[in-house]
Amino acid sequence: MPDPMPRASLRTAVVWDVLRDALDRQVKASGRDALDVLDTGGGSGRFAVPVARLGHHVTVVDPSPNALFALERRAAEAGVADRVRGVQGDAHGLFDVVDRGGYDAVLCHGVLEYVDDPAEGVRNTVAALRPGGVLSLLAAGLGGAVLARALAGHFTEARQALRDPDGRWGDADPVPHRFTAEQLTALVEGAGLRAASVHGVRVFADLVPGVLVDTEPGALDALLRLEAAAAELPAFHSVATQIHVLGETPGASRA
Ligand SMILES: C[S@@+](CC[C@H](N)C(=O)[O-])C[C@H]1O[C@@H](n2cnc3c(N)ncnc32)[C@H](O)[C@@H]1O
Repeated sequence: MPDPMPRASLRTAVVWDVLRDALDRQVKASGRDALDVLDTGGGSGRFAVPVARLGHHVTVVDPSPNALFALERRAAEAGVADRVRGVQGDAHGLFDVVDRGGYDAVLCHGVLEYVDDPAEGVRNTVAALRPGGVLSLLAAGLGGAVLARALAGHFTEARQALRDPDGRWGDADPVPHRFTAEQLTALVEGAGLRAASVHGVRVFADLVPGVLVDTEPGALDALLRLEAAAAELPAFHSVATQIHVLGETPGASRA
């Protein structure tokens, strides 16, 4: 029997679990069922659409017209077009297109890698939050990239990434910045939030040969459970492909 879990869930499961719990707490704390959520660099809505399916109103800001077009289609297919708004813009000029202090939660997933000034990017996401709001920040991890290059036999590139201030393995590296868990946490705290949790994302998923996951019955489910167990352990943050930090504004509810 095929595994009921889609393979794509390996890329999102840990983040989704943390995010859904954070949104549930926001609902309880605010007394409102429908939250206002901003997804900066939300792309085609991989997170925005599931968040809208929970009943929340999501504004996606993204510079790519193609991504916004795909977002519109994905939202329509999911029956949540009325709760998803796509706006062309970027993290630098965020307040040209959305209001300051207008959101219960801000997502910034896979974007900080590409902005010119990551500290400014995080400050802008935080400035978009209401008092008590939460930030969900996900960015590429340095150690995961070093490990992946080394396991692929690219030892010089792996060493280059270790020494490069932006964690890049060479000129052909498509990712402009990578981060350690400590750097991401410092960015969140430097913008005035408390780092409520840190998770390592895709610790094993990108290193395991696909055939092992796709052919062994139950393997995908077992790998998802392993990822969930390792995600919270600081020892594994340093080798994760991505790092997730949940930032809370002072006074946010932990109920
Ligand atoms: C790797 S995709 C992530 C998309 C989505 N957040 C997700 O998790 O599936 C990066 C997205 O960031 C957007 N992006 C690139 N530079 C940006 C910037 N300066 N400000 C905001 N978004 C940006 C891209 O257009 C793209 O949609």
